[in-house]
Amino acid sequence: MVDKVKTAVLGATGIVGQQFVRLLSRHPWFEIVALAASGEKTGQQYVEAVDWVVSQDPPEHVADMRLVKPIPDAIRDAEVVFVALPKEAAGPIEPELARAGKIVVSNASIYRMERDIPLLNPEVNYDHIRLVEVQKKRRGWQGAILKVPNCTTAILTLSLKPVHDSYGVSRIYVATMQAISGAGLRGVPGYMIVDNIIPYIKGEEEKVVNETNKILGTLSGEGVKPAGIEVYATTMRAPILDGHLEVVYAHTRGRVEGEEAARVMDEWRSIPQELGLPTAPEKPIIVHGGKDRPQPRLDRMAGEGMSVSVGRIESLGDVLRYIVLGHNTIRGAAGTGLLIAELYLKYYEKLV
Ligand SMILES: NC(=O)c1ccc[n+]([C@@H]2O[C@H](COP(=O)([O-])OP(=O)(O)OC[C@H]3O[C@@H](n4cnc5c(N)ncnc54)[C@H](OP(=O)(O)O)[C@@H]3O)[C@@H](O)[C@H]2O)c1
Repeated sequence: MVDKVKTAVLGATGIVGQQFVRLLSRHPWFEIVALAASGEKTGQQYVEAVDWVVSQDPPEHVADMRLVKPIPDAIRDAEVVFVALPKEAAGPIEPELARAGKIVVSNASIYRMERDIPLLNPEVNYDHIRLVEVQKKRRGWQGAILKVPNCTTAILTLSLKPVHDSYGVSRIYVATMQAISGAGLRGVPGYMIVDNIIPYIKGEEEKVVNETNKILGTLSGEGVKPAGIEVYATTMRAPILDGHLEVVYAHTRGRVEGEEAARVMDEWRSIPQELGLPTAPEKPIIVHGGKDRPQPRLDRMAGEGMSVSVGRIESLGDVLRYIVLGHNTIRGAAGTGLLIAELYLKYYEKLV
């Protein structure tokens, strides 16, 4: 191993930004050289500016760091930039950073559906990383933008990939119960969510429909041919801190036995596992036999938050029903961001 790769986190005080800081602080390949938040916090010490919620304490070595502005000049030492900003703030910044030669790994929804921008859930569509070459060539950038999927879609597609590969999925119905952390640190007022379910999340269902088809699609020419799966999504907010739970009905080409599908999901491994990438979980999917799993409190930290947990797998003829749970700010955001950066560095041999 040569020197550690220098990274910056934009939106470091938010809930996804905090997960990035926590995971980067113990990462074997990466070090944090800059942290940024909104302009009004510029110059403040990280530990004072952040309302830390993701573990016991902010990592010691970043506690005293001074927050900078999220602009190329202020983070010029960083080679990889992890973005955890709202889409409105990320929009103008990301192309500027890519133009300045940075590898931008972003959670913001903007640009996810652009043809030459890879939307990566590494176990599922690692080969889409090659869009980076198309993007650099077409836009004349030294750097590139790589996107983390919407959290619900990341969890869904990770569970669906081996089912789709083995049995051909033509249509899915999915209904979700999503954690409040999915709306950000100040997203859902306590008064609205305690003792309640909110049966609508603005913009979420469209993301699940579009992104599922891009992620499960195939590389074709200079873009991705969508998978052509009919997706019907109903997304709801539930009074859970972390962990999105999704009830999936997947229509397959023929009858699929539940036990066989469970074995296929449980045994499935992919390129990140083969490459031994540091953030890749040993098992992408953990299958539970008991009828009362998965549960957010018991299962969200499976594989350090990078595995999804699946249960209630049952054959309903040519429909496979199952329930999947994943950690929305780890598998659905920061953890997958790290895995994308690791895949990029490994694929383009930038590291070892
Ligand atoms: N939460 C999830 O589970 C999840 C999952 C997948 C994707 N995402 C996406 O990830 C991004 C971050 O989400 P989050 O949940 O972490 O949100 P959050 O908790 O609200 O954090 C937002 C962060 O962005 C900073 N920020 C806000 N407005 C800014 C501006 N105009 N200029 C510069 N910085 C600004 C905030 O800094 P201050 O502290 O200074 O306000 C904070 O650090 C969003 O695009 C979101 O859609 C979230």
